[in-house]
Amino acid sequence: MTGAFPDVRPRRLRRGAPLRRLVARVRLHPADLIQPLFVKEGLTEPAPVPSLPGVVQHTRDSLRKAAAEAVAAGVGGLILFGVPAVKDARGSGADDPAGIVQLALADLVGEVGTDTVLISDLCLDEYTDHGHCGVLTAAGEVDNDATLRRYASVAAAQAGAGAHVVAPSGMMDGQVGAIRSALDGAGFGEVAILAYSAKYASGYYGPFRDAAECAPQFGDRASYQQDPARSAAEAVQEATLDVAEGADVVMVKPAGPYLDIVRAVADAVPVPVAAYQVSGEYAMVEAAAERGWIDRERIIVESLLGIRRAGASTILTYWATEVAAKLGR
Ligand code: PBG
Repeated sequence: MTGAFPDVRPRRLRRGAPLRRLVARVRLHPADLIQPLFVKEGLTEPAPVPSLPGVVQHTRDSLRKAAAEAVAAGVGGLILFGVPAVKDARGSGADDPAGIVQLALADLVGEVGTDTVLISDLCLDEYTDHGHCGVLTAAGEVDNDATLRRYASVAAAQAGAGAHVVAPSGMMDGQVGAIRSALDGAGFGEVAILAYSAKYASGYYGPFRDAAECAPQFGDRASYQQDPARSAAEAVQEATLDVAEGADVVMVKPAGPYLDIVRAVADAVPVPVAAYQVSGEYAMVEAAAERGWIDRERIIVESLLGIRRAGASTILTYWATEVAAKLGR
């Protein structure tokens, strides 16, 4: 080329894999991935979840094996969801010391407790017969403050069973503060809180509700989860409140369709930001790949890179173990 300008050619840095690798600014590492796992009370065999090919509801035994496999692959942590055999209006199974999540947590502490981070999802929807994330008023609305008292008790039960981190996902106002005081009051000051801070009322949770058997039996979650039509400022408000109440890590969920939110939150808070690549994001890729319409592995890596590029330091994904194993440590 001629003229007054130097010959600027961005393609120079794209020439060959070694050069591209050298200048990469975003990398995937097994330690940044968290594997979600489901355990169901009373199962004798792992039960596949049809809308989440490759994901199962575990027995206590198969859970231990899956956890060991995930840890051997190098994942940074595990997040556990329990499905009780019996549900009731107040979600009694959630804080029962003999409830499925508490038993499974204790199993995992024995199996992998010194090698990985054990996180328990803290909510009521898997345990309530109505499927909502909190307890209801007589009029059938989710009662914020009565729910906080239940979350406080669940937090203490999960910490007592050995959770290193509890992850409140119910989007009640004040949940992080209530859980922090409950943990401190029960002698669990060292247990951290990974707050689902910016969690949207999303259609992308559909397959998860099959896996966790927690679809609301009436209405929806729009009165507590965020409206996708709101701006990122609301997410920043939620995350900032959670940090003030004691959140150690904040989360944005879903991930892929909400990368603007991941970026806004990552720019606003001093704590690490996690993003949850949710069940619908996973199911769509698996379904399209099954039809041969997309290159499954490329899309998985590209979707994860996008989430990291938006500013998430940690990603919860159903592909965690698989991706970690491929990346090596
Ligand atoms: C609630 C909870 C949900 C998910 C994680 N925690 C479901 C919901 O809010 O309806 C969804 C995760 C996913 O879709 O993968 N306990």
